Amino acid sequence: MNAPKAPRGFDIRNRHFDTLFNTPGLMWLGQNTNHFPTAPEVRQAMLDSIAAEEYHAYAPPAGMQALREGILDDVGLPDHSVMVTDGGVEALYTVCRNLCRPGDEFVTTDPGWKWPIHFSEAAGAKVIEIPIYDPARNYRLHAEQLAAAVTERTRAIYLVDPNNPLGICYTDAELKAFTDIARKVGAYFIHDTTYRHFADAPGLAARHYPERTLTIYSFSKWLGLAGLRVGAIISNPDLIEVMAAAPPNNLGCNVISQRAAIAGLTIKSRWMNDIGPRQRRNQAVIKAAADKIPGLHIPVYPSQANFIVLEVIEAGITPEALCMAYREKNIMIRQGSYHTPAFGHRFVKISTTVPEEWADALAEALPEMVAKARTIKSVEALF
Ligand SMILES: Cc1ncc(COP(=O)(O)O)c(C=O)c1O
Repeated sequence: MNAPKAPRGFDIRNRHFDTLFNTPGLMWLGQNTNHFPTAPEVRQAMLDSIAAEEYHAYAPPAGMQALREGILDDVGLPDHSVMVTDGGVEALYTVCRNLCRPGDEFVTTDPGWKWPIHFSEAAGAKVIEIPIYDPARNYRLHAEQLAAAVTERTRAIYLVDPNNPLGICYTDAELKAFTDIARKVGAYFIHDTTYRHFADAPGLAARHYPERTLTIYSFSKWLGLAGLRVGAIISNPDLIEVMAAAPPNNLGCNVISQRAAIAGLTIKSRWMNDIGPRQRRNQAVIKAAADKIPGLHIPVYPSQANFIVLEVIEAGITPEALCMAYREKNIMIRQGSYHTPAFGHRFVKISTTVPEEWADALAEALPEMVAKARTIKSVEALF
């Protein structure tokens, strides 16, 4: 008889998230998800969809027309096309796998979001990460850095904007400079706007470089539909035609999710006027608590996304130890190494689209958690 196999990496990672998901009352401040209670119109749209049992049918392959139109209207790119996907991550998968070929170069920032790096590497591309975790450069990518990193082999430039985890947002002038560089070398520009709804003045690379920009859109963060999996690729009709030729899911995205997303777009301004100031208030509460503790520091404030980076390195603790300390309080926050091996030892990331009580609980416990983290010598695997 074969001996039982030791759990593999993916299995350990899955069990970790399964435990978190099944922890009653867990305060989710680690994944930039949105835990404000659902708007009644969005809830009703889902209930109506279930009551009508419309989920027996497949949705249209590129998304319900009302949703496709609503997304273009929301971002303000009326002459573009859309493919609705199972979340922004599937949009990124589709784009990276379609664009990248062996020998290509894929240029992005460090820190940024790691999954598109894996997708393009799996397609054979070489990844070039430009470091941007630098106070002297305001924690952002500068055009001359990008110009120095691209070559004739650069197939795609991937920009997370607002940046996850830093929370900086690029200006329209910066986006124009970046896309001019992309155009010079004939590269595609993947503009990941997953967090754009939280920014004061988000830009659109597609306005400057419509012929080769692919804009990634998500309903997970602003509307709070992470577990429902709905997002999109926005681009010119020719590029959407390419992306729609052999997508991972050709049978349409979840119909209940799409109904929720359509309803969300109809109430968007009311919803954002409510939750926008509330998440900024949560940022302020966390900053006030951090400012009182020597060695803690918030590099970007206010963050232009729904999370903030908290530097812990000068306080003599590790991000992992602080995460472990908070877990015992039923609070999940994220260690920086999830985002970046190079800079991840410096910080944790805390989500702010959460009920005020959660942010207050985190802020109140901060002095005690920092003291506790100093005593934690070994940590379980975190992902
Ligand atoms: C930068 C970035 N892009 C895309 C995604 C994926 O979002 P979705 O839930 O829409 O798949 C995330 C999720 O955290 C993200 O941080």
